[in-house]
Amino acid sequence: MSKRLSGKVAIVTGGASGIGAATCRLFAQEGAKGVVVADINEELGMAVANEIQGQGSDAFFILLDVSEEQQWIDAVAATVARYGRLDVTVNNAGMSTWESRKNVEDTTLEIWNRMHAVNATGVFLGTKHSIPEMRKIGGGSIINISSIYGIVGSKGGTSYHSAKGGVRTFTKATAIQYASENIRSNSIHPGFADTGMTAELHAQPDEYARRISQTPLGRMGTPEDMAWGCLYLASDESSFVTGVELPIDGGMTAQ
Ligand SMILES: NC(=O)c1ccc[n+]([C@@H]2O[C@H](COP(=O)([O-])OP(=O)(O)OC[C@H]3O[C@@H](n4cnc5c(N)ncnc54)[C@H](O)[C@@H]3O)[C@@H](O)[C@H]2O)c1
Repeated sequence: MSKRLSGKVAIVTGGASGIGAATCRLFAQEGAKGVVVADINEELGMAVANEIQGQGSDAFFILLDVSEEQQWIDAVAATVARYGRLDVTVNNAGMSTWESRKNVEDTTLEIWNRMHAVNATGVFLGTKHSIPEMRKIGGGSIINISSIYGIVGSKGGTSYHSAKGGVRTFTKATAIQYASENIRSNSIHPGFADTGMTAELHAQPDEYARRISQTPLGRMGTPEDMAWGCLYLASDESSFVTGVELPIDGGMTAQ
């Protein structure tokens, strides 16, 4: 039976955990020819790749810090060396820490720069180095994981908001620049979800309840909720979709 990603090859950054790991698993289930689990966390990333291998799809782990350009060049080359093509890049790797959850005046330049290096520059580099390989096969799909915090503001997280907001319009610029080459670029904006990134924050009962109360559908998001959106945007079902921002947020930004 034909599956939704038959024959396609994908790189998923931040593939070791949370939304990225769920996306890797779903892509493999849907018949991807190859899934590249790219992350700085070797132990978890290897485990995800091995799990997928064990289920009959091909996958491999590659150590990639998305903020390092040479590592991107090497990761794309390794993907094409193994599978002969690159159809989909999910720029999902991201970070948010206690130090970054600050208002403007309390945000240090060091945190600002690191948050942009990973959450925004990482997306730029992933896009830049995927395009030439997608061009060779007549098109591709770039999926950037922004956030609801790339659409609306909040009381903290200054540098995260800035970086994720940048990803939102960078995605549209890419869409316009490469539409004539059938290279699509779309962003997903997760709402509050239980993952590694939010584990400590969501362990605080008041914060957890506050976030659910802000979410009209009345529950936390799961990594799988986001992975389903990635699957749609990666598949040919979305072949007329580019430059779109897709909130998967339980209605949070509809308010
Ligand atoms: N969980 C949420 O509530 C939420 C909400 C909105 C947006 N997001 C976004 O979703 C994406 C995935 O995060 P998650 O929630 O699954 O968190 P997570 O912590 O479970 O996964 C993030 C992964 O990114 C990896 N990573 C971090 N820095 C990296 C780097 N420099 N290079 C390569 N890999 C790196 C981590 O090792 C980890 O495996 C992020 O971009 C995040 O900002 C998450």
